[in-house]
Amino acid sequence: MLGHNPNIGYQVKQYCSEKVHMRKAHVQDRINRLVKFSPFQVVMDIMKQVEQHEPRFIPTLVQSETTGRYEGLIVHSPSEYEVILYLNQMGVFNFVDDGSIQGCAVLKLSDGRKRSMSLWVEFITASGYLSARKIRGRFHTLVAQTLEKPTFRSYCRLQPDTSDVRIRIDDQFTVQITCAFRCHGIWPRSAAHWPGGAPWPMQQAALQVKQEGFDLCSRDTSLQIVVPKGQQQNASSMEGDAFAMCMFTSESLLLIGQRRRCLSMLKCLRDSHLDVPGTPVTNYIVKTLLLGECEKHPHEYEWEDEALGDRIIGVFLQMVSCLQCRRCPHYFLPQMDLLRGRPPQQLDQAARQVWALLRRLMLNAHALETL
Ligand code: CTP
Repeated sequence: MLGHNPNIGYQVKQYCSEKVHMRKAHVQDRINRLVKFSPFQVVMDIMKQVEQHEPRFIPTLVQSETTGRYEGLIVHSPSEYEVILYLNQMGVFNFVDDGSIQGCAVLKLSDGRKRSMSLWVEFITASGYLSARKIRGRFHTLVAQTLEKPTFRSYCRLQPDTSDVRIRIDDQFTVQITCAFRCHGIWPRSAAHWPGGAPWPMQQAALQVKQEGFDLCSRDTSLQIVVPKGQQQNASSMEGDAFAMCMFTSESLLLIGQRRRCLSMLKCLRDSHLDVPGTPVTNYIVKTLLLGECEKHPHEYEWEDEALGDRIIGVFLQMVSCLQCRRCPHYFLPQMDLLRGRPPQQLDQAARQVWALLRRLMLNAHALETL
């Protein structure tokens, strides 16, 4: 078994310096092509064009001078990216997280505040909620108009069947541009139980994560709704207005050092062996299960290179279990199921694929050399 191989530390080092390094360089190159180099300057160009028509949508994608990483860019896979467009001014709204929609919250006009005090006045509903759907709708229209221009028409198209702004570029990449509000210094009520009594993360790290806060994203959440009997109509209209709570920054703060190295290896294994179109095995689910594994193995020695084989097997075993039970709770917001709405056949097929990879990892002590 991989984890019991005395050379596992060496294999992990080799895997990281070859395969993981290659994957990172490949993703970095694609990002550069997407945001920097002609004719792939697309994302920045689209956002600048949109801003000319609507100055409230200011491009916020920037490259950090110190790390060279793009702030507000999420890599879902080497061909799927998400750019977060941070919107300004939510001071006149109250954040309401009452748990009625899985993983979502609403922004309600504060008492005594007038609609006209908000920058987003025309997107506030009659009941005083800032509507995620309306903001997204406006942004979608502007991007669609931009993509009709000859400069973009030949190689960019908006993906149909979703209200999300998902752009297919050159039939190679998909980039979703998501409007969001940054909520710094507050923590959602639905995640109030976290970190519970687990010895990991350390108290100081947990405090820092809570301080970091989260993003409220305007995403198509039609699969995430919980509709209590008798409230269907109410809930479905609320659903469109609600914002999805996203905790990417908090997750990154928790996964550092060797745990981050483990995540990179898992992403590499997923991208090379499990990335079939439409798969429910996303890198986000991998990250979620890794956070669970961190709680089960709180000590630093459990994340040395020599132990990473066992950690990787642990995550994939948990993945098979989730796919078979048809449920994968979000790490911070456990009432939110990351597999919700996925067809059972798709989950069964994914479970078989993960299991096939697991068997290779468990039965072949040199698996990492060939995977
Ligand atoms: N990257 C970037 N900006 C981001 C995300 C990624 O520039 N916001 C680049 C970095 O060079 C990173 C590479 O893309 O090394 C791959 O990123 P990712 O797919 O997130 O893989 P990880 O293995 O998690 O990369 P890292 O450990 O460097 O975060």
